[in-house]
Amino acid sequence: MDPGIIEVKYNKLFINNEFVDAVSNKTFKVINPSTEKIIAEIAEADKADVDKAVAAAKAAFLRGSEWRSMDASQRGKLINKLADLMDRNAKEIGGLESLNCGKIYSNAVREIYGAANVLRYYAGYCDKIHGNTIPADGNYFSLTRKEPIGVVGQIVPWNFPITLMIWKWGPALATGCTIVTKPAEQTPLTALAVAALVKEAGFPPGVINVIPGFGPIAGEALCLHNDVRKVAFTGSTKVGHRIMEYAAKSNLKKVSLELGGKSPFVIFNDADVNEAVELAHIAAYVNHGQTCCAGSRTFVQSGIYEEFLRKSIEKAKAKKVGDPFKPETEQGPQIDKPSFEKIMFMIEEGKRQGATLETGGNRIGNEGYFVEPTIFSSVTDDMTIAREEIFGPVQSILKFETLEEVIERANDTYYGLAAGIITKDINTALVFAQSVEAGSVWVNCFGSAPQTPFGGYKQSGIGRDLGEESIQDYLETKTISIKLPMKC
Ligand code: NAI
Ligand code: MG
Repeated sequence: MDPGIIEVKYNKLFINNEFVDAVSNKTFKVINPSTEKIIAEIAEADKADVDKAVAAAKAAFLRGSEWRSMDASQRGKLINKLADLMDRNAKEIGGLESLNCGKIYSNAVREIYGAANVLRYYAGYCDKIHGNTIPADGNYFSLTRKEPIGVVGQIVPWNFPITLMIWKWGPALATGCTIVTKPAEQTPLTALAVAALVKEAGFPPGVINVIPGFGPIAGEALCLHNDVRKVAFTGSTKVGHRIMEYAAKSNLKKVSLELGGKSPFVIFNDADVNEAVELAHIAAYVNHGQTCCAGSRTFVQSGIYEEFLRKSIEKAKAKKVGDPFKPETEQGPQIDKPSFEKIMFMIEEGKRQGATLETGGNRIGNEGYFVEPTIFSSVTDDMTIAREEIFGPVQSILKFETLEEVIERANDTYYGLAAGIITKDINTALVFAQSVEAGSVWVNCFGSAPQTPFGGYKQSGIGRDLGEESIQDYLETKTISIKLPMKC
């Protein structure tokens, strides 16, 4: 796959179907994490631009507007059209993504196709969202109507910029809401490239607005806005707490949060060791470890621990790290300097607290944020690397003896996003799956599909992305009771 020449065509805010400068005329720099060089200067939204974008989204949502009076099935056609345009431009958008966040090019392109399929899943929902008729007490004909919640603010991180944005656009559009999205300050380019397709697909102005900017400025203003009825956020647990505060301080807007994780990936003695090494490697290192549901605590039963460790080390050592555009590359750079420094700090903590550094642990080169695939063994549950999200290419391997023990240890975390298990024993798999406190459990596999809800227990979040459950998060329920002359 060759991306050809990558061009930054869109560098302004997308409001009311137009690309516009920021009110302040301010811009910010976007960096290529492979080279640390500037790729583009992008218009920077602040409160004034948030006010403009929210006003546009509010006008698009008004009773009688083109969007509100559109047949639900027509909404579905527009969403499908956007999906088709994303497919058409997948290589171009994927190339931009690779350049901007260091993702392996082929993965970046695959993510664009994947995001288009998420849109298609939600396109089909538009004319299938409905309430109930209810046998209420008394002489009433009672029914519920499902109505879109209104203007929604969506705050997206940099690790899967388009995937996570589309996970939020899909249900918002299917239900008939209008959107103001703030992409992460590190990765605004592809969100703007997709915004250009929104106009081409024929969405009415104001239905989708995209305003790049910084979290504590544009993000905060969006979350505090009294005309925003819901905020959907993906990012750190720390900022997740802030989002709830903003909701409490403003209009009690609905909040859905998809936050961090420290997901256990548990391998039993009866597993095929080679397959387990592969799957646990993917779970730990996918997207350079910058994945909320990364299997970042690899628990291995004692009978296969030594063999598993040896093979995992071989696998990590063989991994090709470098230019994300080279076809042989398996791991690109980390997103930015703060993230890189956090990972190096965590590696030092691991060593200091007595874990055994088996391989890796260093920066690669002196340009770009490349980190060696790293493995720690003899990790214990109390170590920082077993408790805190590292968000980098670091696998922590822990030894266990029994199912009961590993369930308890897997649950000994304030996170609860996902969990994985590899075993051939159906009883072990089912007992674990039902006992682990996690929003997703993967048995002999890793990863989610558009049809299945995804989100966290405990401090991994509130609400769900994907599946039918996400639709419900964008709806209000209205009860209508009609007095009848008699019981009939
Ligand atoms: P972050 O939570 O600060 O940023 C995520 C998004 O939230 C960005 O769009 C950012 O602009 C926005 N944001 C930041 N502060 C905000 C505020 N006060 N109000 C409104 N929006 C705000 O995450 P960051 O700093 O990029 O990464 C720090 C750590 O967070 C990572 O090392 C990782 O552990 C975790 N993280 C988890 C993600 C996930 O997929 N759940 C994604 C990104 C980061
Ligand atoms: Mg932050």
